[in-house]
Amino acid sequence: MERVSILILVLLVGFMGYHVEGLGVNWGTQATHQLPPDTVVQILKSNGIQKVKLFDADENTMSALAGTGIEVMVAIPNNQLAAMTDYDRARQWVRKNVTRYNFNGGVKIKYVAVGNEPFLRSYNNSFLNITFPALQNIQNALNDAGVGDTIKATVPLNADVYESPVNNPVPSAGKFRTDINDLMTQIVQFLNQNGAPFTVNIYPFLSLYGNDNFPFDYAFFDGVTNPINDNGIQYTNVFDANFDTLVSALTAAGFGQMTILVGEVGWPTGGDKNANVGNAMRFYNGLLPRLAANRGTPRRPGFIEIYLFGLIDEDAKSISPGNFERHWGIFRYDGQPKFAMDLSGQGQNKFLVGAQDVNYLAPRWCMFNPDAKDLSRLADNIDYACTYSDCTALGYGSSCNNLDANGNASYAFNMYFQVQNQNPLACNFQGLAKLTTQNISQGNCNFIIQIATSSSSCLRFSLLSFIVVTLSMILFL
Ligand SMILES: *[C@@H]1O[C@H](CO)[C@@H](O)[C@H](O)[C@H]1NC(C)=O
Ligand SMILES: *[C@@H]1O[C@H](CO)[C@@H](O)[C@H](O)[C@H]1NC(C)=O
Ligand SMILES: *[C@@H]1O[C@H](CO)[C@@H](O)[C@H](O)[C@H]1NC(C)=O
Ligand SMILES: *[C@@H]1O[C@H](CO)[C@@H](O)[C@H](O)[C@H]1NC(C)=O
Ligand SMILES: *[C@@H]1O[C@H](CO)[C@@H](O)[C@H](O)[C@H]1NC(C)=O
Repeated sequence: MERVSILILVLLVGFMGYHVEGLGVNWGTQATHQLPPDTVVQILKSNGIQKVKLFDADENTMSALAGTGIEVMVAIPNNQLAAMTDYDRARQWVRKNVTRYNFNGGVKIKYVAVGNEPFLRSYNNSFLNITFPALQNIQNALNDAGVGDTIKATVPLNADVYESPVNNPVPSAGKFRTDINDLMTQIVQFLNQNGAPFTVNIYPFLSLYGNDNFPFDYAFFDGVTNPINDNGIQYTNVFDANFDTLVSALTAAGFGQMTILVGEVGWPTGGDKNANVGNAMRFYNGLLPRLAANRGTPRRPGFIEIYLFGLIDEDAKSISPGNFERHWGIFRYDGQPKFAMDLSGQGQNKFLVGAQDVNYLAPRWCMFNPDAKDLSRLADNIDYACTYSDCTALGYGSSCNNLDANGNASYAFNMYFQVQNQNPLACNFQGLAKLTTQNISQGNCNFIIQIATSSSSCLRFSLLSFIVVTLSMILFL
């Protein structure tokens, strides 16, 4: 009897604490206004997220993560790879950004990402010759510092480092890209020697983006009418097919058993006709239960360690790949959840716990001034506002696509005004704009109020407005 109740208790506790094992998130910081690191860490904790992948090793971020037990992947950005080809620099990096945190109550660093998708074709081979030496130096420095057993260097790679031949486009024919095959083989050999994982970013959304012939349902996980038949294996989604193409490429290189970690996977909610909350929910509703059930892929059944991309929207990301780049977050810019999901993969979708005690700027918006007489410079001013802020929600298929011309102008002016911390000087636009305290949001299109960032920017701002007010008073008198 007692045993039974203990068993029930154990099962209950186990169930309550359940989350997708190995589920992590990417914490990117390319935003004009960032939530304080402590607030972000609180989001991770409240939602049971126990792994996080960073794009640098920022001190404030690391302090916020200290003592939490959250597993961390720190990173060396591409622009620091060249420096890391010098062993002494690599050692310094490891000392400053890894071993310094290696104490009881410090940061639980598990991986160092060396570069970020350095072999993307759009980088014109800029990082081709430096990535492998940097990887070697960093892992060797970790080994020399005595932490190499538990901390592994890896290179998060884009999925276009491997492919199947055009005349046999099935996962089992996967090979590393011909132009980098030798390099990839050396890298994989080195990872294997050090017991480090291969890290790959897989984006079903990008398969769909800009390819109207791509079978829509194949981007998701609920089945297709015409699966791809690969020697008897039926592929019903591009995630599995892509992952298994990598498994084949590794097998061809002689390392078919290497651990694969998915560094980024996710679905954006804006900036493209296929980027919306409905599709994002469909994607995560397919992905998360498969992870929870440790289904793996046809060639690699079982557990996969995975990092969702991303945690929070980033309004300063480059949009050269597309407007969707600023809308990958499962949380909005202010740390509030966008849609219901279940990170435990049990299909019990509910809104995640959002950021607590967010400090917003005042409820003030900048809008198009309907009394403006000379509209000849309107287009130029909208252009200016959008160049220095984020207007991607105005685009086709996005939440603010149905605004009229005045609405467009107001949206652009307000985004700029908010980026500029509501500096009154940033709501003029040659007399085309004016301030308002009325919420001018329309329908699904939210005219946002930015979050207040560090006290220093508030101080700068109040000092500036003080000067402006004083000056205008002097002029007025
Ligand atoms: C440690 O990481 C930070 C943040 O990524 C970077 O700016 C700094 O240069 C690194 N320190 C060293 C000694 O390389
Ligand atoms: C790559 O080359 C193209 C064409 O020469 C150029 O437009 C682009 O700016 C280059 N990109 C980088 C990252 O160097
Ligand atoms: C990389 O190194 C090879 C061989 O040394 C050289 O031919 C090539 O130009 C280099 N590529 C770049 C982008 O520096
Ligand atoms: C508003 O802006 C969007 C995006 O720039 C554009 O597609 C749309 O045509 C504009 N609407 C009007 C009425 O000008
Ligand atoms: C403005 O209105 C929108 C839509 O009604 C709402 O979602 C948003 O929270 C409001 N903003 C503020 C600051 O009250």
